[in-house]
Amino acid sequence: MFYDPRSEEHGLAHSPWTALVVPRPIGWISSLSADGTANLAPYSFFNAVSGVPPFVMFSSAGRKDSQSNIEETGEFVVNMAVADLKDALNISSAPFAPGIDEFERAGLEKAACRNVRVPRVAASPVALECVLNRVVPLTARDGTKVRSEVIFGEVVGIHIADEVIVDGMLDITRIRPLSRLGYMDYAITDDVFSMARPVLEE
Ligand SMILES: Cc1cc2nc3c(=O)[nH]c(=O)nc-3n(C[C@H](O)[C@H](O)[C@H](O)COP(=O)(O)O)c2cc1C
Repeated sequence: MFYDPRSEEHGLAHSPWTALVVPRPIGWISSLSADGTANLAPYSFFNAVSGVPPFVMFSSAGRKDSQSNIEETGEFVVNMAVADLKDALNISSAPFAPGIDEFERAGLEKAACRNVRVPRVAASPVALECVLNRVVPLTARDGTKVRSEVIFGEVVGIHIADEVIVDGMLDITRIRPLSRLGYMDYAITDDVFSMARPVLEE
């Protein structure tokens, strides 16, 4: 099958779009409102986009609380989504009103950050402290304003739980990251293999 999403229906029972770029890492974004209420929500249009210096991005479909908070305070934290915290992550995706502390609603303890005021999820093995770099609105080629805007952050602090470091490397089987597939589906990464890159002999 083929369809042009600008002008044609896909013709399937459910839109295939979220199943086409998978698995997606989930940025579990914590932020603080200007009045100090903690906020937490998952975003799977998320990724690392630069290594040195490290930058991340996520995309918000409409101006949700996370984006509003980040624009107000200039800070956020990306907590790693892991299998052991999947139910809390799901709860944190509910459309709670601003002013509701989503850590409390999801039964999660907060831990302090060092270079941002935003709290991190204490139980998550990895947290990236970020400062807002820029918000990029998207515009389609025909000039239509797209609902989603992309938030870029510069990573200014990295927390890694000592228990997941083995022989100087992160042991993914101890972390068991959670990722997003299409529809309502998720995957847990716990089966890993290594492959050396080819060396070309001139
Ligand atoms: C696994 C998962 C991934 C999600 N990814 C996104 C995303 O990439 N962009 C988005 O706008 N909403 C996404 N959502 C929905 C938001 O988490 C949801 O709208 C949430 O209430 C936003 O919270 P906030 O208003 O506190 O920022 C996702 C939800 C789940 C469960």
